Amino acid sequence: MFENLKPVAIDPILGLMIAFKADNRLEKIDLGVGVYQDDRGRTPVMASVKEAEARLMEVETTKSYQGMAGDPDYNHRMLELLFGDEHSILQSGRIKSIQAPGGSGALKVGAEVIRRARPESKLWIGVPTWPNHVPLLGGTGFEIKHYPYYDLESHRIDSDRMIEALKQVPAGDLVLLHGCCHNPTGADLTHDQWDLIADLALERGFIPFIDTAYQGLGDGIDEDAYGMRMMADRLPEVIVASSCSKNFGLYRERTGSITFITKTPQQADIVVSQAMSTARSIYSMPPAHGALLVSMVLGDPDLNHQWRSELEEVRLRIKAMRGLLCDSLAGNPAGMDFGHIKHQKGMFSFLGITSSQLERLREEFGIYIVSSTRINLAGVNSTNIDHLTQSLLKVLQ
Ligand code: LMR
Repeated sequence: MFENLKPVAIDPILGLMIAFKADNRLEKIDLGVGVYQDDRGRTPVMASVKEAEARLMEVETTKSYQGMAGDPDYNHRMLELLFGDEHSILQSGRIKSIQAPGGSGALKVGAEVIRRARPESKLWIGVPTWPNHVPLLGGTGFEIKHYPYYDLESHRIDSDRMIEALKQVPAGDLVLLHGCCHNPTGADLTHDQWDLIADLALERGFIPFIDTAYQGLGDGIDEDAYGMRMMADRLPEVIVASSCSKNFGLYRERTGSITFITKTPQQADIVVSQAMSTARSIYSMPPAHGALLVSMVLGDPDLNHQWRSELEEVRLRIKAMRGLLCDSLAGNPAGMDFGHIKHQKGMFSFLGITSSQLERLREEFGIYIVSSTRINLAGVNSTNIDHLTQSLLKVLQ
């Protein structure tokens, strides 16, 4: 049966994670996979989440099935977090969400529902994007189209070319957008660019499919939601895939949700029934643990407050590391400008060095970076910054 199968190369980001773990050098640095690390290089469980976990142990009375939509309280609180509890869309009846196994599970359910609704729709994905977007969403059967997003030379959004390309998107197609903290570039849309894309969506009739996996890691919880909230206000249809992996540190608990904004409340009911039947046909029901923790953290005023300040600490640490790395590389022998790193948002930015420089960093200095030169700024800390800077200065000579 399996004799015709060929081995598949491991995903580049996850492969790097394995290679890093296998490296015995003490001074090694992991700037690969998008996981938060504190100043000691650890990825701790947030204290608010730990406390919720302790409380859950006390009150949890069953591990019975929860159903395809997951925990209703989680779904409700996630909508408030994503859109803000005062957003008029929440009272409209036009918005519905279900819990999903992480942001990836949310993207998959969203894509399957779109395929059921309109199989001929194409999906437009910016270049570059998170490398798993194409296999994950393309695997659903979509025809994938691309639009330019980032200019590698200037390290800015390629705004004119992006807008020109979006002007060609036909009605009924989907446009994938990153809610904030763009992965891999760190270059986020400005408010004006978001507004312009909403104008185009209205004019052309395309539907934004927003992937938001880093809310709170860029400029703040509300600030990072600008585009999504504005589009929910202005557009008849929006789809949002969200993840609690990064902002609650719940990576392995696979906690996410998929949200549909539809033209009418009746359509929202139909779409959510399709989402549940989609879930049933893939994984049946989402895992409960992470969602119960998020629901408890968001629902308890003290835990909520504590979580917000922990997330703020994460955000500010990453921002500080951006500044530190950029300043440490000023005056480098190659005369390269790393100023973009200071101003971009969230975990990632491109370093923009060559592949042989990247290889030297890994081979000679134990510094792990994905081949696109995307670095995870959360992997930089006060202990490894000297080794990182010195190594970079050497390979740039
Ligand atoms: C990343 O981009 O590194 C993370 O989102 C982890 C992953 O699954 O690729």
